[in-house]
Amino acid sequence: MKKWKKIFRNGSVETYGEAEMVALGRAMAAELEAGDVLGLVGDLGAGKTHLIQGMLEGLGCTDAGASPTFALVHEHTGGRLPVAHFDFYRMKSPDEALGIGWDEYLTGDSVLMVEWADRFDGELMPAATQWLVLRHEGPTQRRVSLAGY
Ligand SMILES: Nc1ncnc2c1ncn2[C@@H]1O[C@H](COP(=O)(O)OP(=O)(O)O)[C@@H](O)[C@H]1O
Ligand SMILES: [Mg+2]
Repeated sequence: MKKWKKIFRNGSVETYGEAEMVALGRAMAAELEAGDVLGLVGDLGAGKTHLIQGMLEGLGCTDAGASPTFALVHEHTGGRLPVAHFDFYRMKSPDEALGIGWDEYLTGDSVLMVEWADRFDGELMPAATQWLVLRHEGPTQRRVSLAGY
């Protein structure tokens, strides 16, 4: 894993409460580069959206709180890098992403942050995707792990 070696010393980080998850995202943002594709995996409530909110804050995106609850993608500009935040949770077919220009997002300069990316891993996610796996470990305890590629 190229990124976040110092943050994820043992391959994973434990957070207690959403503020710590947002802070983790803020710290991770410093190492983001144009063209990065992040695949976030984990159950509902695992903290994917909060981690992304932190990364958006760290990049300086002014609308970091907005998330694609009903839309497939929400674009965030105004920060150090443009971000396209996708959520595949309600997506029924990869054609929905392809139909709104998935291939152009992949070849552009944005950072792609994709919740539920594992739902369409084979069809949509590139080989270089950096996978982040989030797990419930208690009421306010969530573990974030880097998965290799
Ligand atoms: N350590 C933690 N990290 C992130 N969220 C937490 C944590 N502890 C409790 N929570 C709560 O869990 C929920 C996580 O929601 P969210 O980030 O939307 O998850 P997801 O996008 O994975 O469905 C929120 O209600 C949040 O307040
Ligand atoms: Mg979410």
